[in-house]
Amino acid sequence: MASGLSKILVFGGTGYLGKCIVRASIKMGHPTYVYGRPITPSAKPSKLELHMEFQSMGVLLIQGELSEHEKLVSLIKQVDVVICALGTPHIMEQLKIIDALKVAGNVKRFIPSDFGCDEDLITGLPPFQACLDKKKKIRRAIEATGVPFTYLSSTCFGEYFFSFLLHPHDKNSEELNIYGSGESKVVFTREEDIAIYAVKAANDPRTCNRTVFFRPSKNILSQLELVSLWEKKAGRSYNKVYVSEEDIVKLSKTSPHPENVRAAIIHSIFVKGDMANFEIREDEMEVSKLYPDVEYTTVDQLLDDFVANPPDFEYVDL
Ligand SMILES: NC(=O)c1ccc[n+]([C@@H]2O[C@H](COP(=O)([O-])OP(=O)(O)OC[C@H]3O[C@@H](n4cnc5c(N)ncnc54)[C@H](OP(=O)(O)O)[C@@H]3O)[C@@H](O)[C@H]2O)c1
Repeated sequence: MASGLSKILVFGGTGYLGKCIVRASIKMGHPTYVYGRPITPSAKPSKLELHMEFQSMGVLLIQGELSEHEKLVSLIKQVDVVICALGTPHIMEQLKIIDALKVAGNVKRFIPSDFGCDEDLITGLPPFQACLDKKKKIRRAIEATGVPFTYLSSTCFGEYFFSFLLHPHDKNSEELNIYGSGESKVVFTREEDIAIYAVKAANDPRTCNRTVFFRPSKNILSQLELVSLWEKKAGRSYNKVYVSEEDIVKLSKTSPHPENVRAAIIHSIFVKGDMANFEIREDEMEVSKLYPDVEYTTVDQLLDDFVANPPDFEYVDL
């Protein structure tokens, strides 16, 4: 540890959340490694640009497949902490990382690719439950190895979900969907802040073998409260189209993949309120209490940013 800070290896570091984790890790002074699949001639320009950005920041990029066990083991032996942000379709690929972690035997903390509803606490409609079951299997596999872990749980990605719910880039949008009654409380955290909390939790003795939850008090609100705040900020009003629970359940049964999964996730988060409808049992295992020094982006600030600079997200309505 030349810098005195732990060396962090990120899997899925070129992904939506992963790139925020890589940037946060570097910004916080950690020697940072990213293991990703080799760049091919058909790679998107955005991926090439990201690789160049990482190189300019001093990230050590290692190209390879997750099936290259020996390569993974020797890389893992060089680092202290491993954070995984592989995308939802590739959750089970983490078993290959876990095999390598077990053989390497040196890592002080592993954070698997969770970052959503807590798979040990909730039950979703079948298409979402299938995703939760995979994440559960990963948790049990890591626990069986004895490698120290931390789980990060129970928040919506702020920018991603605000784009989906509020259509901030669409000046002509006149209506917004409200799922269920719109009254269930939801937790929103900006992606950059999730990344900062992940790097902090990965290096914190207090969070060893624990689940860390997100409940930043200024960022827990219902969909109706969010829309009302957005209407004030954006200086406009929308027709609210209520999508009933019955219709959402039906869509989860009848829509093709992945729309069925999307409907089931919406049911869990916005109808049942699965991000916020439980007590955090383990005292203080909440990010804003653990890290009061982090000035997280409030929903209010994030919406101000959206007014000033609407993100150009692709979203698909139900
Ligand atoms: N709470 C929320 O609101 C929310 C929202 C979305 C996602 N999530 C969760 O957040 C986590 C990260 O999701 P994300 O959307 O940020 O991920 P993502 O952008 O879909 O993907 C992350 C990385 O996965 C790697 N990957 C893609 N295909 C692969 C393959 N065939 N084999 C191995 N690696 C492959 C890619 O890295 P390389 O190309 O460099 O190899 C990619 O950069 C997941 O657990 C997801 O369920 C939560």
